Amino acid sequence: MNIQTNKKHPKGIYLLFTIEMWERFSYYGMRGILVLYLTKSFFEGGLAIDVQTASLIYGFYTGFVYFTPLIGGWLADKYLGQRKAINIGAFTMMVGQIVLFAVNSHAGLYSGLILLILGNGFFKPNIATLVGKLYEINDHRRDAAFSIFYMGVNLGAFLAPLVIGLLSDDVFATKNEAGEIISYGYRYGFLASGIGMLLGQTVFVAFAKKYLGKLGLEPANGNGKNLASDKEKPVNDSLTSIEKQRISVIFIFFLFSIFFWAGFEQAGSSLTLYTDKYIERTLHLPAVGQYVIPTAWFQSVGPLFIVLLAPLFSMFWMSKRGRNIPVSIKMGTGMVILGVGFFCMLAAVAQRGGDIDDVTVKASLWWLVLTYFLHTIGELCLSPVGLSVVTKLSPPKFASLLMAVWFLSSFFANILAGLLASYVESLGAGKIFLYISIFVIICGFALIALNKTISKMMHGGS
Ligand code: PHE
Repeated sequence: MNIQTNKKHPKGIYLLFTIEMWERFSYYGMRGILVLYLTKSFFEGGLAIDVQTASLIYGFYTGFVYFTPLIGGWLADKYLGQRKAINIGAFTMMVGQIVLFAVNSHAGLYSGLILLILGNGFFKPNIATLVGKLYEINDHRRDAAFSIFYMGVNLGAFLAPLVIGLLSDDVFATKNEAGEIISYGYRYGFLASGIGMLLGQTVFVAFAKKYLGKLGLEPANGNGKNLASDKEKPVNDSLTSIEKQRISVIFIFFLFSIFFWAGFEQAGSSLTLYTDKYIERTLHLPAVGQYVIPTAWFQSVGPLFIVLLAPLFSMFWMSKRGRNIPVSIKMGTGMVILGVGFFCMLAAVAQRGGDIDDVTVKASLWWLVLTYFLHTIGELCLSPVGLSVVTKLSPPKFASLLMAVWFLSSFFANILAGLLASYVESLGAGKIFLYISIFVIICGFALIALNKTISKMMHGGS
C-alpha cells in the first residue's frame, strides 16, 4: 500500500494535535494552581484547606483522572465510538472548569473535580486511539505520529503554567500599593482553562468531518487499522491466541511503565520541594539586578524540552535506523535514561555536601535542568512509543479499553510517586533519588533483555 512510503502525515493528526494541546493546556493550567487555590485563605482567593488535606485531594485528583479512562474507553469501544466519547469528555471537562470558576466553595470544588475526572475518562484514551486509527498497522509513520501528538500535549503543558500563573498572580490579582499580592485570581485561571477546552472542542467539531472522515464514528466494529486481520478473526466472540499474546505484551509494558512514571512524577513532588529549598534560584542579571526564579516555573522545563526535541525524535523514529529498533529496546532505554537523570540530582546532593538541612547551602540549578533534560529524553523513548504500540497491538474491539489500561499505569504511578516522595523527610532526598535511579535502571535493562521474548509475543507488531 503506498501509504507506507508516503512521508507526509494525514491532516487529521494536526487536528488531533490541536484539540489535545488545548485539553492539556486546560488540564495542566488548572493542576498548576489547584494546590494554591486549596490552601490560600478565603481572603486571598482560596478555600483555606489545610496542607495535608490539600495534598490528599491533589493526589486523588491526579490519580483518578487516569482511572476513569477505563470506563470511558470501554464505553467508546462498546457503545459510543471515539468521536462521541471525545465530545462528551471535552464538554464535561469544560463544565467542570466553569463550576470551579463560578462556585468557590467546597461543594463547587468537589463537583468541579468530579466532572473533570469523569470528562478525562471519556476524552484521554479515545483521542489517543484515534491517532492510532489514522495509520495502517505497519505504517512506519505511526511512532512519529505519536511524537507529533505528544508535542501537542507538551505545548499545552508548557504554556499553561505560564499563562495561568500570569492571570492568577498578575492580571486578576489584587495588589497593594507596594505591588504585593493581596488576593489571587485563581478562579480566572479555571475560567481560562475552561475557555481553552472550549476552543479545542470547537476546532474538533468544526473540522472532524473534513479531516477524520468516518474514523471513530462507530463503536469498534473490527475494521480498525490495527493488527487483527480477517484471517485470524475467531468465529465466536473470544480472542485468538495471537491476540491474547499481544494483550499480554500490553500488560508487560503497563507494569514497567508504572515504575517509569513513578520516578518521572517526582517532578511535581520531591523534585519540586528540593528545588524550592535547595536549588540556587537567584539570578544576578546585569540590567535587572537580582531575580528569583519562581519554583513553579520549573514545571515548564520538561514540556519545553519535549517541544524542542519531539521533532528530532519523530524524524529519528521515521529514519531507517530508528524504524528497526524494537519497542522494548526503545522503552528499556527510556527507563535507563530516566535513572541516569536521577544521577544528576545525586550530583546536586553531593555539591551541597549531602542531605543537610541548611537551606543557605544551595546546588546549581543546572543539575536540575540536566535531570529534566534526561527525563525528557527518557519520556520521549517510552511514552509516545507506548501509546503507539498499544494502538497497534489491541484487537479493534478493545482498542480504547486497552489504551485506558496504559493510562492506568499513571494512576498507580501517581500513588506510588506520592508514597516515595513521602519518605524524603525521613530518609533524605539523596537516598530516594539513588533508590529510584537504581531500580529504574535495573527495570530498563530487564526490559531490554526481554526484547526477544516480547517481540515474539507481538507477532509482527514491532
Ligand atoms: N505529559 C503526559 C500527558 O499529559 C503525561 C502522561 C503520560 C500522562 C502517560 C498519562 C499517561 O499526556
